[in-house]
Parts: sequence; C-alpha cells; structure tokens
Amino acid sequence: MNRKETIEALQLDDFTSFYNKANEIRKIEKGDDVFIRAIIEFSSYCKMPCKYCGLNRKNESAIRYRMDADEIVDIAKDAIAAGYRTMVLQGGEDPMFADGEILLRAIHGIKSIDSDVAVTLSAGELKRDVLKKLKDGGANRYLLRHETTDEKLYEFLHPGHKLKDRIRVLHDLKELGYETGSGFMVGLPNQSVESLANDLLQLTEIPCDMAGIGPYISHPDTELSGNENGSVELTRRCVSLARILLPKANLPVTTAVGVLSPEERLKTFSNGANVIMRKVNPKKYKDAYKIYPAELDETDIVKERIELENMIRSLGRVPV
Ligand code: 5AD
Repeated sequence: MNRKETIEALQLDDFTSFYNKANEIRKIEKGDDVFIRAIIEFSSYCKMPCKYCGLNRKNESAIRYRMDADEIVDIAKDAIAAGYRTMVLQGGEDPMFADGEILLRAIHGIKSIDSDVAVTLSAGELKRDVLKKLKDGGANRYLLRHETTDEKLYEFLHPGHKLKDRIRVLHDLKELGYETGSGFMVGLPNQSVESLANDLLQLTEIPCDMAGIGPYISHPDTELSGNENGSVELTRRCVSLARILLPKANLPVTTAVGVLSPEERLKTFSNGANVIMRKVNPKKYKDAYKIYPAELDETDIVKERIELENMIRSLGRVPV
C-alpha cells in the first residue's frame, strides 16, 4: 500500500476487509503462535522531557527506583522458571545505565541461566558504541519507538530533541544486527491521519522486525494531562495495516490497549497481532513504573502466565 491508499484506508467507514486481510496474512506468515515476552522495568529514572510520559524528568510525583544487575537477573530467573523465554529489559533513559555496563552484566547473568533465552533491550537512545558493546555481549533485539513522524509534533512533545536523531539510532540498531523494533502512539494531541500513515510507512523504511503501536493514554502528572486518550479502534486499524505492510513483523498487542479495553486486546489478536508482553516485576516496582495510569493487581507470576496461556488458547491460538 502506498501513502494515499494508507490514508484512505484509515478513514474508511467499514474497515472489515482490511481486518480480515491482516488476519489472513498473519496466519500465512506467522501461523497461530502467540509469542509471550516478559518485561522487566529496570529503572524509572529518566533524563528525557517527553510531555506524554509519566516518567519524564519534570514529574516530581513519580516514584523513582533503579535495579542493579543482580536484581534484574533474579527477576529474570523467576520469569524463566514460570516459562518465559524472552526478557525485555526496559527502562527510562537513566544516566546510570548510559554506559551499558549494568545492562551488560544483566545480559551475561540471564544468558548464564539459559543461553537460549532471548534478551530484548528497550533503553532509549543509547550511543552507537554502547549499542555495539551490548550486541556483542549477547543482546538480541532492541525496541525504540519513533513515537511520531510529524516533526513539529515530535519536537513539541520532546523539547530539545529531534526526530532525525531517533531515526539514526534505529538505523544504527539495524546495522549492528539487532532485530529492531519501533512503533508509535495513536491519538496524540494534534496528530493527523496523514501523519499516522507516515508512521506506518516509517516502519517499512527501517524496515522494522517488530512494531509496537499503542493508544496514547493521558497521564494526570504530565503537561498533556486532560487530553483525550487515543482511540483503541484506530489503534487496531494501524496494527492491521502494519501487518499488511510488514507481513513478517512481530506485532504485539500493546499493554496500553489492554489498559484501555480488555476486549480490544482480544480483537487485536484476530486483526494481525501475534505477540503479547507481560510485566514480571514485583508489585512495588509495577506501581512505581507509571508511563500512564494503570491499575495492576497483586499477582503471582506463575498463575498469571497460566491465565495468559489460557486466554491465548481460548482464541484458538498457541501460546509460545
Ligand atoms: N500513553 C501511551 N503510551 C505511552 N508511552 C509513553 N507514555 C505514554 C502514554 N502516556 C509509550 C511510548 C514509549 C513506550 C515505552 O511507551 O511510545 O516508547
């Protein structure tokens, strides 16, 4: 699909044929497997000023914590015991992590439990030499959403930061051999349908191996508080179009979709998605890591994993 077709599709009254096409392509290219990933949020410190995010440095009411490498590895050990085979290490842009040393020790620790466990990093715009060191140290994948391709909106949302620098890092990741994930938010203030089409085409430009597409959720302690949340339906349209544009990509049902609507989460699996990620941190950290507001119950990692697998089976799919 070209830009014009993408813009038109996003605005259709009836999107059914695209939903069906996306589901068909997902079945052919990815089969019925749904990949389950564990997310370990290693630090809630962040030097970035992103106006939508609850972890932005200006939010004085955010609870800040950081883990050391041993703690990351201990949590990974429990997640591996519960059945997880991919650890996503995600954090704010914490200066303590900028040289990559803590992450490197964490990767080594995780790989020494089981060398087949995949490690995905999501730690912001790290320097190329640091990314290389982490790749050489065993990291397999990296997630860095471009957030929006609308340059004016990008600079409004990230004062002092440029879209082209972020895209550069995505190219660095590809060149370094990472399986590379990007993505964007849907429903940001002043985001147009045209810019969403550009966001989708940007994924093909890299080209991305993975893409996280989630609705914007208003956070009360940010400069954008009071803005409307993004539409989950429009988000699902974007996921379907991403499946059509990038047939082989791994496309998660994002956590943000599940927070706004549990039913949407299920629908998104039938409209192109094939991945789900689960936070495996202890509750005290889940409560502190608030990118957007979300109520999380006290849960047992093993029980939660079983429930997730049952949910996937109930959709006629295979948890992997
Ligand atoms: N609503 C939805 N998604 C958000 N993110 C950050 N803040 C919000 C919010 N308020 C997303 C960004 C980031 C990812 C980790 O979470 O796209 O890349």
